[in-house]
Amino acid sequence: MSNRRVGILGLGAYLPEKVLTNFDLEKMVDTTDEWITTRTGIRERRIVEKGTATSDLAARAAKEAIQSAKLTPADIDLIIVATISPDMLMPSTACIVQEKIGAKCGSFDISAACSGFPYGLAIGEGLVRSGAYRHILVIGAEVTSSFINWKDRSTCVLFGDGAGAAVVGEVHDGHDILATYLGADGSQAKLLQIPAGGSAIPPTTETINSGLHFVQMEGSEVFKSAVRTMVDAITEVTRRANIKLGEIDCFIPHQANLRILNAVAERMGIPFEKVYVNLDRYGNMSAASTIVALYEAVKEGKVKKDSNVVLVAFGSGLTWAACAIRW
Ligand code: ACO
Repeated sequence: MSNRRVGILGLGAYLPEKVLTNFDLEKMVDTTDEWITTRTGIRERRIVEKGTATSDLAARAAKEAIQSAKLTPADIDLIIVATISPDMLMPSTACIVQEKIGAKCGSFDISAACSGFPYGLAIGEGLVRSGAYRHILVIGAEVTSSFINWKDRSTCVLFGDGAGAAVVGEVHDGHDILATYLGADGSQAKLLQIPAGGSAIPPTTETINSGLHFVQMEGSEVFKSAVRTMVDAITEVTRRANIKLGEIDCFIPHQANLRILNAVAERMGIPFEKVYVNLDRYGNMSAASTIVALYEAVKEGKVKKDSNVVLVAFGSGLTWAACAIRW
């Protein structure tokens, strides 16, 4: 492995303006603000206006990240978009983003659900470290609201739309990616899936009438796996980065459920004030979740120069991933 120091050169985020509160949801499905708040910690989420695609959010976040890295789109030599809500099956959302931001470079999507951003960061880090690329734009972006059954109270209260982006490149003064770790267990694929619309079950009137093109989830099973895999990911990435758990200043977890975050912190003995939380405002933004949380943690001064940071996520696949960064 080369000695090149690779890290994050710039960050960006974009959240749609429209806020959907738990009280709004009370008028749409048989739920209450009290149930959603106590079971998940979520109070509101952002939802796009009709006609807005994942690439629109991604391009807004990308432009800010490129600007904050003091680069131009012409400097970007690879675009990776992590998403489970692509604009369409083909072309990739990354190609559409490339055109929207005015870049000219290799572009592709990855599918690792809510673990998508740390998966993308690991790929970007490896490719810059190899010397093959200089500035890689890694984006986590979702319009989950297009894939949610708004009549299913067990899922529609959980998700939100948003996007975040990071430019990965060689660093000289902090922001180093110290270690990454990726995991997956395909035997648990059925716990969380959008069953129809692909080659296994192509879309038909029947699949649409049965709602098979929407997110389906066995919530309590996902909950248990989430706690177990996030503990595993934090343990492994700190071992690889050669830092002790007590030396981590800020944990940036996937924002699915406050009770999951409490359970992980409790099991590992992590003081909860070190865990960054914004799920109350945005819900679960899938691949956008960890990158938007990192963006906000930096803006709020919770991640500052020399902070040891761990990004950790889990999602459909099942997948899980972690990245250790020295800011
Ligand atoms: N409002 C009111 N009641 C509800 C709602 C709702 N929105 N949703 C479910 N209920 C009811 C259920 O019908 C059930 O009623 P019953 O006891 O009469 O059958 C009761 O509440 C309890 O349901 P559970 O599913 O057992 O509730 P639980 O405490 O497990 O919470 C939840 C459900 C929030 C989904 C939780 O299991 C969870 O967060 N799981 C993890 C989900 C997750 O993280 N998913 C994202 C993964 S990331 C990715 O890749 C997209």
